[in-house]
Amino acid sequence: MINKKSIGVFDSGYGGLTVFESIAKQLPDYNYIYFGDNARAPYGDHSFETIYKYTLECVEWLFAQGCPLVILACNTASAKALRTIQQKVLPVKYPGYKVLGVIRPTAEVIGGYTESKTIGVMGTRGTINSESYLIEINHQFPEVNVVQQSCPMWVPLIENNEHVNEGADYFVKKYIDQLLAQSGDIDAILLACTHYPLLVPKIKGYLPEGIALVAQGDIVARSLVDYMKRHSEIESLLAKDGEMRFYTSGDHEVFDAHASIFFSKKVVSEQVRL
Ligand code: DGL
Repeated sequence: MINKKSIGVFDSGYGGLTVFESIAKQLPDYNYIYFGDNARAPYGDHSFETIYKYTLECVEWLFAQGCPLVILACNTASAKALRTIQQKVLPVKYPGYKVLGVIRPTAEVIGGYTESKTIGVMGTRGTINSESYLIEINHQFPEVNVVQQSCPMWVPLIENNEHVNEGADYFVKKYIDQLLAQSGDIDAILLACTHYPLLVPKIKGYLPEGIALVAQGDIVARSLVDYMKRHSEIESLLAKDGEMRFYTSGDHEVFDAHASIFFSKKVVSEQVRL
C-alpha cells in the first residue's frame, strides 16, 4: 500500500502517456501513478457499459493506491464514464475524491485555434459517437462549427507500432480525406485521442497548407496547473517528491518496451491484476 498521496493518471493503454508527459513537465514536483489498462485496450469500440465498468475499476484501483485526484487521460473514458463517476459514484462512495477528464479543458480553449470557425475533431468511435465534443464545444463556442471523424484503425496501428510504416499511410489519408470532404472550411483539427500525437508526422503529409493540428497534452496540463491553484483542499494533500510510478494490467515488459515511444523517459512498470 502506497500512503503518499499521488496524482493518478489513467488511460486504456499507452496514449495517456502523451498527456502525462505534458503534465509532468508543467507540474514536476508532484508524485504520480500512471495506470494503463493494456490488458483490455483498446477501449474505442467497446460499449458504454463496458467502458464505464473498466474505467471505474481502474479509478477505484488508483484511489486505493492513495490518489485523491485521478485524471482520465483518455478521451474515450472521459466521454463514456466521467460524468457518471463524477455524479453518481464519487458523492456516494468517495466524497472528497476528484476525477477529471480531458474533454472539458480542451473544449474550453479550442475555439481560439480556429479563425474560420470550423474545427475538425478526430477520435475513436466511442468518443465521436458520444458527441461529447459537439456538445461541449457548442456550449463553450456556439459560433464554432464542429466536423467529426472517427478513426477506428488509428489506435490499433499505433498500439502495434505500425504507425511509422507505409501501411499506416492508407488509413491516415483515408480518415483525413473523409474529414475534409465534410467541409472545406476546416482550419484546425483537434486530435481527440491521446494516442494520435504519434501520427502527427504522417498526418501532416496529407494536410493541405493552412490547417493547424492541435494535440491535447499541453492544454490538459495547463488546465491542471490552474485547477491546483483553485483547489487547495486537494493540492495540500499531495506529496511533492517528484516520484513517478507506472502500472499496467498487461505484460509489464511489453509495456516498458512500448511506452518509450509515447514518453521520452525510460519507463519501468509493474503488472497489476484487477
Ligand atoms: N487513447 C484513448 C483516447 O484518448 C483511446 C484509445 C482506445 O481506444 O483505447 O481516446
